[in-house]
Amino acid sequence: MPDQTLYEQLGGKKAIDAAVDLFYERILADDRIRHFFTGVDMPRQKGKQRAFLAMVFGGPVDYSGKDLRDGHAHLAGLNDTHFDAVLEHLGGTLRALGVKGELVDQVLSIAESTRSDVLQR
Ligand code: HEM
Repeated sequence: MPDQTLYEQLGGKKAIDAAVDLFYERILADDRIRHFFTGVDMPRQKGKQRAFLAMVFGGPVDYSGKDLRDGHAHLAGLNDTHFDAVLEHLGGTLRALGVKGELVDQVLSIAESTRSDVLQR
């Protein structure tokens, strides 16, 4: 069904909520990047990430967080290595949940398009 949004193809709200949970489990288990999340309110963070992903995948628009440049400006030392680690977990999460390769690639290319904002350049 070519005219389905990426949001629908990924399985809608339930699937994206489940993916975000598993995604942060992986991130918090990774010594390369977990320190950025010290003191972050994770339930709130998950809520923002769910809303953000739903929006960029063509689903409902109810994201009210900061734009990605402002949202990461305070993370001292954040660099490409950290960004790559996060993409690795995003792809790994989706594959573990059985999302087909073509859709995983679409998600990763959307995520990749945010790199310069997240890394403040
Ligand atoms: C695909 C790239 C990324 C996306 C789409 C993304 C998305 C988001 C969103 C939507 C927020 C909420 C912004 C707000 O506060 O309103 C956020 C916050 C945050 N992100 Fe990211 N992010 C990305 C990459 C990264 C990377 C690479 C790291 C570090 C390894 C990171 C660490 C954080 C942290 C620690 C916060 C919470 C800041 C706080 O509340 O103090 N993010 N991110």
